[in-house]
Amino acid sequence: MTVKIDTLLHESRRFAPTPEFAAQTAATPDLYTDAQKDPATFWADQARNLLHWHKPFTKTLDWTNPPFAKWFEDGELNVAYNCLDRHVLAGNGDRVALYFEGEPGDSRSYTYAELTTEVKKAANVLLGLGVTAGDRVAVYLPMIPEAVISMLAVARIGAVHSVIFGGFSAESLRSRIDDANAVLVITADGGYRKGKISALKPAVDAALQSNDSSVKNVLVVKRTGQDVQWNDRDVWWSDAMETASPEHEAESFPAENPLFILYTSGTTGAPKGILHTSGGYLTQNAFTHQNVFDLKPETDVYWCTADVGWITGHSYVVYGPLANGATQVLYEGTPDSPHTGRWWEIIEKYKVSILYTAPTAIRTFMKLGRQIPQKFDLSSLRVLGSVGEPINPEAWMWYREVIGSNLTPIVDTWWQTETGSIMVSALAGLTETKPGAAQVPVPGITIDVLDDDGQHVGHGNGGLLVVTQPWPAMLRGIWGDPERFKETYWDKFEGTTGAKDGPLYFAGDGARLDHDGDIWLLGRVDDVMNVSGHRLSTAEIESSLVAHSLTAEAAVVGAADETTGQAVVAFVVIKFSQAEIASHEDIVGILRAHVAQQIGAIARPRDIYIVDELPKTRSGKIMRRLLRDAAEGRDVGDVTTLADTMVMNTITSQMKK
Ligand code: PRX
Repeated sequence: MTVKIDTLLHESRRFAPTPEFAAQTAATPDLYTDAQKDPATFWADQARNLLHWHKPFTKTLDWTNPPFAKWFEDGELNVAYNCLDRHVLAGNGDRVALYFEGEPGDSRSYTYAELTTEVKKAANVLLGLGVTAGDRVAVYLPMIPEAVISMLAVARIGAVHSVIFGGFSAESLRSRIDDANAVLVITADGGYRKGKISALKPAVDAALQSNDSSVKNVLVVKRTGQDVQWNDRDVWWSDAMETASPEHEAESFPAENPLFILYTSGTTGAPKGILHTSGGYLTQNAFTHQNVFDLKPETDVYWCTADVGWITGHSYVVYGPLANGATQVLYEGTPDSPHTGRWWEIIEKYKVSILYTAPTAIRTFMKLGRQIPQKFDLSSLRVLGSVGEPINPEAWMWYREVIGSNLTPIVDTWWQTETGSIMVSALAGLTETKPGAAQVPVPGITIDVLDDDGQHVGHGNGGLLVVTQPWPAMLRGIWGDPERFKETYWDKFEGTTGAKDGPLYFAGDGARLDHDGDIWLLGRVDDVMNVSGHRLSTAEIESSLVAHSLTAEAAVVGAADETTGQAVVAFVVIKFSQAEIASHEDIVGILRAHVAQQIGAIARPRDIYIVDELPKTRSGKIMRRLLRDAAEGRDVGDVTTLADTMVMNTITSQMKK
């Protein structure tokens, strides 16, 4: 971490929005002053201005029982109505909501009127299958319009969606279905990825094989057309939609009605179901989407490349943009299929003006070379965004120069599944940006950087990032586990001087304040890895590795990786009885495949080292810090607390084999 701080200290480049850009932005510095005066009133104003309330709220924030917040509690709204019907009623029914681009090159678009009709029909399909308000619906789909339609249809009837990324395995799917007691799964036969069909339905069939789950039906979208196994509980999406009525009146639900659960990795083995509710979540997403990206819904074409299986897809593909009546691109595939210029081709085709993506993608394009994007007309771009991991100044500059014609503002947005919305970011039209810094809390959000004792670290110093006041889109809890919610996020600073004015939300990230007080993110401080902007838990992968009959012990670390930010590196001790049975190479192959099968391909370790022993303290705690040093090719740090100080020598020599 010290190395990183040193580099950041030398970054002195500054980029203000051009005068032309600044002149046309709707955001004004008043946003900050108003929000500072009274954050709750500020958010109440945003909620009233940006959303339609079936029943207006009179109470803004209830923080009497922290950490359980209630925002706009006595108000009622319908989230889908806010994203759809009201735009049609306002005369914008003909505006394109979605330009869908399939990986094989097929495309279709939906106007707001068309999308509203589809969602109404899908809502009727759900009701017809017996889904009612409060029920949980699992969504396991590729990036196709039906994913957006499903989420909005679930929201429309007051049910709760749990979207599971298509890269997760049958086992991960099953554990998420069970944890939430989902009554329905919406899936597809498959999707297209990297030029191939990637099947989804078989994973659902495997997950539900034992017939003892809470799931009553599986709704299946036909995307790829390959043969699928068919069960009594299965219903074709197209059959159900064909006969569904296009009439559905959106009922209102309380602002605190659960909207979705999204599972994310924590420091322990089991993923946590992060719970988000309706009114506050939608308010902050509409606000940040509009002001961070300087959105002009009448003219912009926005593209967020995230999958709906992650929080970015929830907040900045579905809810924020659609609440704002934006026109956006939805792309099914990977950036390099069928050719490495695919993204730039899409930007040229749809004249994308706002692009929101992750540093891993930018670094991958950097490696491929600027000659690829330079073949395309990217002049429509006017704002670029980054999310998911720290963006190094070099990648930031490349993004600006090569993709943004050396002109476009770049907003580096820090937030999390738990925060629901962007928390720290420049505002495209207002902020003078610094390459590599997330910079300032968005208006209405209060952030601090503290030391372990809860003391403010002061400008020029590093510490732990906290949120000091409740915010509208904050998680309302961990599904079914209020204790874990408190412990994970709120106990860290309890009793410290920093918490004297109320509980502090501990984000799990290290950060540094520069001499202007701007925030630079330094990565996770816990046992959570960030691989290509996706969160993975060391504990979860370790428990998968030790579940295999070959493995006696395992330790997993996130090691720095030039492209993906971090990469999963595992150290395993093989059971004595198994050690001679297979070659090291075979064992590594077996274990990598095992993790992919248990958790999903995204968790497959990049490297697995077979070692005789793991470095442990005298009390038996694995010292991952030393393994990280070894995995990153550094000299191994202080080993004096190890029970056996020689063990790291053995490990590093075994890694070379
Ligand atoms: O470590 C931070 C990193 O991603 C984590 C949150 O991961 P997840 O819940 O999957 O959400 C990712 C998309 C919002 C954070 O704790 N992170 C996210 N954005 C940034 C970031 N790190 C540095 N800079 C960012 N802009």
